[in-house]
Parts: sequence; C-alpha cells; structure tokens
Amino acid sequence: MERLKGLRIVVTGGAGFIGSHLVERLLNLGAEVTIIDNFLFGSKIEHLRGHRGLSIIEGDIRDAGVVSQATGAKDIIFHLAACVGVEETQRMPFEVLDVEIQGTLNVLNSAVESDVKRFIFGSSSEVYGDSLEPMKEEGPFAPKSTYAVAKLVGEEYCKAFRQKHGLEYTCLRYFNVYGPRQDERFVIPRFVNRVLSGQPLEVYGDGKQTRDFTYIDDVVNMSLLAAVGPEAKCQVINIGTGVTTSINELAETISKALDSKSSVRPAYIDYDEKRPRSIETFNRCAGNSRAIELLQYKPGIALASGIEKYISWKRSH
Ligand SMILES: NC(=O)c1ccc[n+]([C@@H]2O[C@H](COP(=O)([O-])OP(=O)(O)OC[C@H]3O[C@@H](n4cnc5c(N)ncnc54)[C@H](O)[C@@H]3O)[C@@H](O)[C@H]2O)c1
Repeated sequence: MERLKGLRIVVTGGAGFIGSHLVERLLNLGAEVTIIDNFLFGSKIEHLRGHRGLSIIEGDIRDAGVVSQATGAKDIIFHLAACVGVEETQRMPFEVLDVEIQGTLNVLNSAVESDVKRFIFGSSSEVYGDSLEPMKEEGPFAPKSTYAVAKLVGEEYCKAFRQKHGLEYTCLRYFNVYGPRQDERFVIPRFVNRVLSGQPLEVYGDGKQTRDFTYIDDVVNMSLLAAVGPEAKCQVINIGTGVTTSINELAETISKALDSKSSVRPAYIDYDEKRPRSIETFNRCAGNSRAIELLQYKPGIALASGIEKYISWKRSH
C-alpha cells in the first residue's frame, strides 16, 4: 500500500459510503485525492473537509466538463458514483441508467485523455441475479433490474476502452458492503435502528433469501490492492466473503449483538412497490477464489464482529 503515497487519485462518488472510507484511507496513506460528487445522497466526508491532500469538486459525472476538470493528470480513478439501491432503480430508472451509462462514458473518456494508470469500476453482484452459487466472475448473468443491467454495460465499456485505447481497468463486483456511515436505507443499518428503537425487524418475504455481507474495511483493502496490483489489471473480480447469511440469520445476529430478546422475532411483510418481488435476488454468495489468487487477500472480518463494530460506531454517533 506504500505505493499509493503521493499518487494523484480521483474518486467519483467519493462523498458516499464506500467512497468516504476509501478516500479516508487514501489520505492516511499520503495520496492526493480529488472527489467528484453531486451530493445527491448527502455527504459522508464532512470530517475530511480541509484535509490538505483533498480536493472536492461538487458536480455531476454526466457533465463531461466537470469530469475532465477533475481527472487531468491523475494516476488512478476509482469510479464509484451511482444511484444505488432497489428503490432508486424503481423510482428513477432513467436517471440510474443515465448516470451509469453517460456518466461512466464521461469518466472513461477522461481516463483515456489523462492517461491514467488504472481505472477501477465499482460494479455489483446484482449482475448475477439468481444465478448459481457461488457466483463466479465468468457468469452466468441474469440481471433483474435497470441498475444491474447498467452495471454489466459499464463493465463492457471498460473492456471496449481496453481494446480501443489500451486503458488498464479493473472491475470490482461488490457484494453487500456494510459498516459505519452506510445509508439507513440498507438492511444492516435499518435492522440496528429498529432494534435500538424497540421496533420489530421488518423482513421481506420469508427471510430465507441470502446475502454475502462484506465489512467495509475488507472492501477498502481489496479495492486498494486491485488498484496497485499488476495481477488485477484488466480483470473482473468479486469482492465478497464467500459466506452466505440468510436475512433471518442476520436478524438473529443483530438482535443477539444488541441483547434484544423482544426483537428476535421479526415481522414478515410482503414485497411491495418499494421492493418488488420481481427484482429481488434470493441467493447471493461470492465465489472469491479469483480475489484470493489475484489480490492475495481473503476478507477477515466475520459478520458477527463486523456488526459489533458497526453497533459500536452507531452508539458513538
Ligand atoms: N454498498 C454496496 O453494498 C454496494 C454493492 C454493490 C455495488 N456497489 C457500488 O459501489 C459504488 C459505491 O456505492 P455506495 O454504497 O458507496 O453508494 P453511495 O450512494 O453511498 O455513494 C454513491 C455516491 O455517488 C454520488 N452520485 C450519484 N450520482 C452521481 C452523479 N450523477 N454525479 C456525481 N456523483 C453522483 C452520490 O451522491 C453518492 O455520494 C456504487 O457504484 C455502487 O453501485 C455498492
């Protein structure tokens, strides 16, 4: 990681959950970081404002001028800006698509113009839909939402830019990332909040759907290794633990961590317009042998201890 010291790095979506952790670590490692973010979902980087290694550009990645202003003479771009979440996919599908396609093209074009050494694309496990477990990078793919389709398109653009311009990219398919500062729309923060406020956990369907939850520190470590590792060049890599947890098990783990016997029994609710059954994925487990081989890293933070860390952060904020 010392290799990152002094490098000039752009993080699109740097004011978001994953971006804010990545930016913080990069600054601690001595990198010079430029964030582009439209602050659509607020800001998770207020504590970093004023840091001498940090520049913040408030703007939209769909604006090519803003993007090229930020990316001139840079070494690495982490492209994380996106409209994230099932509800957003439902509420504003054209905006989701526009940001993923137009925005990603702008960032890719700028990466080529400024001759960056590595372009990291924040993709998603959603590209697999309900395909076989564990999900392997080569597929099969069965994207169920606009967001998932758009992520696959973004990956294909990275490959096309490699062919046409020689761009060195790495696509990281993040599985469910969690940790401090995550938006309360997502399941772990939502469950913790419900227990803390004495409300039953609301579980969609029968709660048997599974996820592969990966703690943010592991995700940041793997993302940085992907950015500097020669083996990760022009690769698509799953970023997950390889361990599945059902939503019922998650509810139990959180209730136990908060010592809340009353909340152990979740309230089961039907899928609705906010979360339609048609775009729900029912199983998700990362095949992580490629990450272990190419990044030489295996996520080390088990769900129960990641949840403890999250709760202790939550209690102090
Ligand atoms: N968190 C996860 O579990 C997860 C899982 C799979 C993939 N991902 C991907 O990782 C990336 C980061 O996710 P996150 O959880 O940090 O999400 P986030 O919503 O916290 O961060 C995304 C950031 O992008 C910004 N943004 C959105 N549209 C923009 C635009 N048009 N121009 C400039 N900025 C814009 C938002 O303001 C936000 O700060 C995304 O690309 C997401 O698709 C995340």
